[in-house]
Amino acid sequence: MTTAPLRVAVVGAGGIARGIHLPALAGMPGEVEIVAVVDVEGDRARDVAAEFAAPLAYTDVDAMLSATRPDLVVVATPPGAHKDATVAALRAGAWVWCEKPPTLSLADYDEIAAEEGANGPYASYVFQHRFGSAARRLRRHVEEGTLGAVRVAQCHTLWHRDDAYFEVPWRAKWATEGGGPTMGHGIHQMDLALSILGDWTEVTAMMGTLARRTETEDVSAAIVRLESGAMCVLTNSLLSPRETSQLRFDFDDATVEVEHLYGYDNSHWRWTPAPHVGDAEPAGWLPDADEASSHAAQLRVLVDAFRRGVRPPASGDDGRRSLEFIAGMYKSAIEGRPVRRDELTRDDPYYGAMHGGDPDAAARAFAKEPARV
Ligand SMILES: NC(=O)c1ccc[n+]([C@@H]2O[C@H](COP(=O)([O-])OP(=O)(O)OC[C@H]3O[C@@H](n4cnc5c(N)ncnc54)[C@H](O)[C@@H]3O)[C@@H](O)[C@H]2O)c1
Repeated sequence: MTTAPLRVAVVGAGGIARGIHLPALAGMPGEVEIVAVVDVEGDRARDVAAEFAAPLAYTDVDAMLSATRPDLVVVATPPGAHKDATVAALRAGAWVWCEKPPTLSLADYDEIAAEEGANGPYASYVFQHRFGSAARRLRRHVEEGTLGAVRVAQCHTLWHRDDAYFEVPWRAKWATEGGGPTMGHGIHQMDLALSILGDWTEVTAMMGTLARRTETEDVSAAIVRLESGAMCVLTNSLLSPRETSQLRFDFDDATVEVEHLYGYDNSHWRWTPAPHVGDAEPAGWLPDADEASSHAAQLRVLVDAFRRGVRPPASGDDGRRSLEFIAGMYKSAIEGRPVRRDELTRDDPYYGAMHGGDPDAAARAFAKEPARV
């Protein structure tokens, strides 16, 4: 097991890289070393590299890869550029930690997965809300069966984004973000929900472009049947003035809920025992440690997996689950019917593009008075 600091390069030096990734990396001295920053805007690459004491700045990913041979590449570009940077890094032998949404389509996701080696390098994706201590503890309860079966769930991402937010050219366009709040915002909560609930079998969704001038939806809603038989309702909205992110799981023995906005710690979670269980909160429901959901929490898990040479969480099939679910949501909303998970085969139109190959059909289905394809 290697103990030397991981040599990390960051590709894309915009909001999330500068505000979150680079501070998280800088917060792990001895564990990681920032060796380069890449951005197509040269001045930005240089300024951000200087700010975080990275010795090298590049405008080109391939030039960076051949010159610095990093262990890990953090991809924090807009979504449309995720695939090329990730494939280039894997081919250069580096592990990847790429921002959400992983890719614009399932086809792109699988193309990347085919570049991984049997024992690495691996491509993993940023789903930081899976990694707070309370969510990790809840997954263990599910594995150990201590709460009984989960029967009913809710998953809501109710956020607010005004018109100015969509002036950033890559946002809410099929070609550059791959979708609207379902792909770009609710994906976090849905990923966390599915990490607790397991695989889905059928989804019925409705989407609308109700209030923003976006190519994609600005709100989506769905009902979902899980393999376990449980049912879940969910919404993803960018039109909700009182912003909140909510998850609720009704197990046989307790209701477990979290309400937060852009991140939680243990205090955001609530446990309500079923009447037959009694009032007492079971010891050990919440972990002793209180680690907030954050990029730093996921990064620590990723660095540990790298050192042990094992596949990290949120990679491979485990990183693909929420993207596949979202493809099912788009298909259901555009075609106006329930969609089964096993429909999303390689020859399905929604495997190749979230809009199923026909953005006009999506626009018609998402209109206030929708026409179905
Ligand atoms: N996990 C989260 O909570 C979270 C939050 C916000 C954004 N994000 C994701 O992070 C990613 C970046 O978002 P952002 O808000 O920082 O965007 P941004 O527009 O602020 O920054 C993106 C940067 O990438 C650069 N860039 C574009 N194409 C490039 C390429 N081919 N090679 C190198 N650099 C390139 C741009 O010049 C820009 O500096 C997106 O995928 C977004 O969905 C995740």
